[in-house]
Amino acid sequence: MRQILSRLALAAFFIGFSTLVLPAETRAQGEASKVFKTNCVLCHAANGSGDSPAGKAMSAKDLRSAEVQKESDADLTATITKGRGKMPAFGQKLSPDVITSLAAYIRQLPKK
Ligand code: HEC
Repeated sequence: MRQILSRLALAAFFIGFSTLVLPAETRAQGEASKVFKTNCVLCHAANGSGDSPAGKAMSAKDLRSAEVQKESDADLTATITKGRGKMPAFGQKLSPDVITSLAAYIRQLPKK
């Protein structure tokens, strides 16, 4: 009995540990990469290059380029929220938090 209890305690500890200690940022990034795959890849391609047929047709810029990376987080979130040119607005579809995490995700693209 005591052994079962201590195993349970150990299991509970590890579950709690992995959800608490895994940085919130890592989870948000995982989330952002899913959102990116669902909503953005069509035009921006999985790596952000814009090298997809739709991206080329609309001349979406390479999100990894210095030109895009030099924009502020506020610029990136504003473009995603309100859209720009042929880029659709996502302000109605995605929450501000998710849009912020997408901007952070775009910052990670050149490092991949
Ligand atoms: C229907 C195609 C399409 C989809 C879907 C799309 N984009 Fe875009 N995106 C574009 C185009 C085209 C541009 C260039 C807009 C311009 O400046 O004319 C752009 C520009 C951008 C920019 C600004 C980069 C720059 O040119 O400075 C960001 C950031 C961006 N998109 C992020 C996203 C994110 C994040 C998503 C998914 C939530 C997304 N886009 C979905 C087509 C798309």
